[in-house]
Amino acid sequence: MKLTIVGSGYVGLVTGTCFAEVGHHVTCVDNDEKKVKQLQDGIIPIYEPGLEALVRKNVQLERLKFTASIEEGVRNGEVVFIAVPTPPQPDGSVDLSYVEKVARSIAEVLTDYRVIVDKSTVPVKTGEKVAETIRRYRKNEVDFDVVSNPEFLREGSAVADLMNPDRIVIGANGDRAVAVMKEVYEPFNAPIMVTDLNSAELIKHASNSFLALKISYINAVAAICEASGADIGKVADGMGADKRIGREFLHAGLGYGGSCFPKDLSAFIRISEDLGYEFNLLKEVERINADQLERFLKKMRSVMWVLREKKIGQLGLAFKGNTDDIRSSVAISIAHKMMEEGATVRAYDPKGMEKCAVHYPKIPLVQDPYEVAQDADALVVATEWKDFKELDWLRIKSLMRTPLVFDGRNLLVPDEMKNLALNITAWVVRP
Ligand code: UGA
Repeated sequence: MKLTIVGSGYVGLVTGTCFAEVGHHVTCVDNDEKKVKQLQDGIIPIYEPGLEALVRKNVQLERLKFTASIEEGVRNGEVVFIAVPTPPQPDGSVDLSYVEKVARSIAEVLTDYRVIVDKSTVPVKTGEKVAETIRRYRKNEVDFDVVSNPEFLREGSAVADLMNPDRIVIGANGDRAVAVMKEVYEPFNAPIMVTDLNSAELIKHASNSFLALKISYINAVAAICEASGADIGKVADGMGADKRIGREFLHAGLGYGGSCFPKDLSAFIRISEDLGYEFNLLKEVERINADQLERFLKKMRSVMWVLREKKIGQLGLAFKGNTDDIRSSVAISIAHKMMEEGATVRAYDPKGMEKCAVHYPKIPLVQDPYEVAQDADALVVATEWKDFKELDWLRIKSLMRTPLVFDGRNLLVPDEMKNLALNITAWVVRP
């Protein structure tokens, strides 16, 4: 099929590329001409495992192309996906101006029937507004349908998630659009769920909020484990073995960050409020998450007494492993907090340093994980990169002034660490 994706950010680029990979002919539109040129040359602005190779392959096969012209996109694609940012506003509500602008632009160049699909995470009832906008701005009485098709990919495993989805949600108010969308997704061999427009939009916010709730729940349980001497890893295993609960997203640590959960939670709280429901449960999820960082710093102070004038090495800046994304990263907050307390911080991340240098130039960076440990009074593991597990921890220990590690992601196995460094009292301190 001929498909168009408007917006070549995370979701747009990965979606477009995977559609091309399964055989569709895809036009990706972005209003940033510099980015379009880079993508045409096979230069990917983000780090996402497997993506670059797929983009190059599909560009070469002429199944994937990039343009800055929305008119070209709408002409080329029988289905037009909107995948533009929906950033938060200061009051927690969602800024839908990019979605509105794209809807207007599509309307102005619409000449034949098109299915217009919202892929961005948007508040319930946005699809209705998109349809209204298109009706208002279209130049001809052309037929069209608006569909909600939320995306559930995770950064760091985006290609795999998109190629093997648990489910595909199609929210539409008419059979014609549903038939077209089923054809789009046929090559993915995944369960397709058809709902009305509003329900599909809600599924996305409700899912992300539930996952964030799971994380805050296990972090609250971790606090009880810590106070009682129980092992949070074992407790999570025991809970997760129950199929009704599941082990995923029960990894206790510094809490969630990134460009989705924090934003989607405050949006969902705000949406509910506007609809007359006070979602206090989600407010508590946010509070527990914010507390995690404070609890962690408290723990550091309880062991190190004062942080002022201490040299602290930090492993991890990205908001999670396998990504270069540092947006709303708890790791960035920790670095700043430690610096505010007078500690000298040096940080390393396998992929996140370039973006950190641009956006947070005050955080000192080193190019090698072992350099982080040099003469350090303590190390902080702030991101769950698997690479950190595989470091030569004996070498790290020999480089440090005092061999103290605060593992904010429960990544290291405390017993293994203790075995490596026999005379160490607080090798790994769990948050
Ligand atoms: C999340 C959802 O998982 C995706 O399904 C959704 O499509 C996406 O948001 C989105 O709305 O676009 P993502 O933000 O990429 O994906 O990352 P996650 O893997 O969900 O992790 C989010 C945060 O939770 C990270 O900071 C991670 O460190 C933290 N986390 C995750 C935990 O602290 N514990 C866990 O057990 C799992």
